[in-house]
Amino acid sequence: MSSQSKPHILFRREEIAATVSRLAAEIKQDYQDRCPLFIGILKGSFVFMADLIRLLDFPLEVEFIRVSSYGRGRESSGKIKVVRGLSSPIKGRDVLLIEDIVDTGLTTGFVLDYLGKKKPASLRFCSLTDKPSRRQTLVNIDYLGFTVPDKFLVGYGLDWDERFRNLPDICFLEDGD
Ligand code: IMP
Ligand code: MG
Repeated sequence: MSSQSKPHILFRREEIAATVSRLAAEIKQDYQDRCPLFIGILKGSFVFMADLIRLLDFPLEVEFIRVSSYGRGRESSGKIKVVRGLSSPIKGRDVLLIEDIVDTGLTTGFVLDYLGKKKPASLRFCSLTDKPSRRQTLVNIDYLGFTVPDKFLVGYGLDWDERFRNLPDICFLEDGD
């Protein structure tokens, strides 16, 4: 892959919209009377989170957390740390963690552990996509959009080296393109 790589469409914007609506309906069912706190993992989750919360017509709050994981390109360093923490306490809150993709599972596993130690009343996890083929640690996804093949995805918030987040469709980059 290079900065010249051409993205190929995997899920079109209409299909993404239908899936986000389905997730919103599931989440509404479980959270409408609980004023949940949605915590997005930056940066990849921001487009998904923005679309998701606008489909929810009940009180909720939004937070973000940023962790360092991937460097340039595709491989995770495996070492994860929080580089931007929460700006308010989550003790006693109903927390829903929002992510763009679960790949090895190391990032999600780390963040769920980190949040769990802060004693929320409940902690669940919603991911737009799941790439199970490269999983290294068990992660339970309570609300899942798409299961995806072992390809490098970009668009709808997902990046390659910070590029392509602005594509409205979920695309993949091919090695050698
Ligand atoms: P994990 O720790 O390996 O599960 O990786 C999670 C993080 O890696 C996600 O939050 C993404 O930022 C990034 N990531 C994993 N796979 C992809 C991909 O296919 N495209 C873009 N980012 C990815
Ligand atoms: Mg990410």
